[in-house]
Amino acid sequence: MANGLDDVVAADTVLSDVDGAGGHLTIRGHSLMELAGRWRFSQVVRLLFDGFFDDLPGDAELERAIGRARVDAFERLRPMLGQVAPLDIYSGMRAGMAMLPDGETLADALRLVAAPAVLTPALLRLGRGEEPIAPDDKADHAGDMLRMLNGSVPSPALAKGLDAYLVTVCDHGLNASTFATRVVASTLAGLTSSVLAGLGALKGPLHGGAPGPVIEMLDAIEASGDATAWLRNEIAQGRRIMGFGHRIYRVRDPRADVLKAVVRGLSARNETGSRLAFAERVEQVALEVLRIAKPHRSIQTNVEFYTALLLEAAGFPKEAFSNVFAAGRVAGWIAHAREQQATGRLIRPQSHYVGPVPDLVA
Ligand code: ACO
Repeated sequence: MANGLDDVVAADTVLSDVDGAGGHLTIRGHSLMELAGRWRFSQVVRLLFDGFFDDLPGDAELERAIGRARVDAFERLRPMLGQVAPLDIYSGMRAGMAMLPDGETLADALRLVAAPAVLTPALLRLGRGEEPIAPDDKADHAGDMLRMLNGSVPSPALAKGLDAYLVTVCDHGLNASTFATRVVASTLAGLTSSVLAGLGALKGPLHGGAPGPVIEMLDAIEASGDATAWLRNEIAQGRRIMGFGHRIYRVRDPRADVLKAVVRGLSARNETGSRLAFAERVEQVALEVLRIAKPHRSIQTNVEFYTALLLEAAGFPKEAFSNVFAAGRVAGWIAHAREQQATGRLIRPQSHYVGPVPDLVA
């Protein structure tokens, strides 16, 4: 029976490796721990794109090129923001990105990297009845995203925290959205078409759509006053505890630890309110409830749990969390699209027909 392609190897990649048993994530030869909080997002974009674009500049120039791409994306998409603003924030971003040229150049790629960081604040501001703020091509990518959202230059700690988040989610093996991206790229469609496939896959709550429900869960548990009873009832009703479990990791998701450290750093500067201490208590209760309810399965905290806390502290509403995830993952999608195209091989698996057979006419 086909069951989610669990053990199928569908690509050779130099981009990232997920060690689910050991709890390690490698990005092009570097452990995530080495990158997050130390390398800027633009440096990691360079790392991922290296060898996939001929004209890739050095780190400093690439940071500036991403800044110019933010301005370019804003100017191209500004006229149609009003049309997509009534959609939900993720669909609005996806619709905006669909309007970008479907090319193959580095400029096309950088515009796609820039677009979620530009569109998300602009659409959130329009939704609040405020004017979008134009990008500053000289600012760093994460800091500028926060400035365009909140209207003021963020604290260096917050900008660095968001940058570390973008690095943390930049790539993660052959997850559902990356696979979807590679399938479309394998047809030799353009980068925008390929990225749109990734965007579609990332929207679902079993993939990138989980951190919003994490906030709803924390709010509901706080209102109930009894975390154990609330979580047990969820399991009894056959529902999933959001922010826990992973198809690949059987130990803690290393990205959860990276983001937990970032959120703790912000908490020490009073930039997370009282949320962190409460969330850490809920995490412990949830792990215990899951351990007892699902003894046959090791279910641990995943990246989405601490993503929710970090993005809430950064001022993003929960409806926009998947947008920010996309702002980081888009770099990985583009590199995978290029890597897939370089193989020259169309992805075309088989299906196993289990439907009725026609009567054979003698
Ligand atoms: N809460 C409750 N039970 C769970 C959870 C959870 N979060 N995760 C897995 N289980 C249980 C299932 O109910 C099932 O139990 P059963 O055997 O008694 O029926 C068992 O664990 C195995 O479930 P599968 O669906 O086969 O596990 P899979 O590896 O496919 O699940 C998934 C991975 C989809 C992420 C799952 O853990 C889940 O739904 N988590 C909640 C949503 C979430 O946090 N998503 C974000 C994932 S991280 C990311 O994509 C970036």
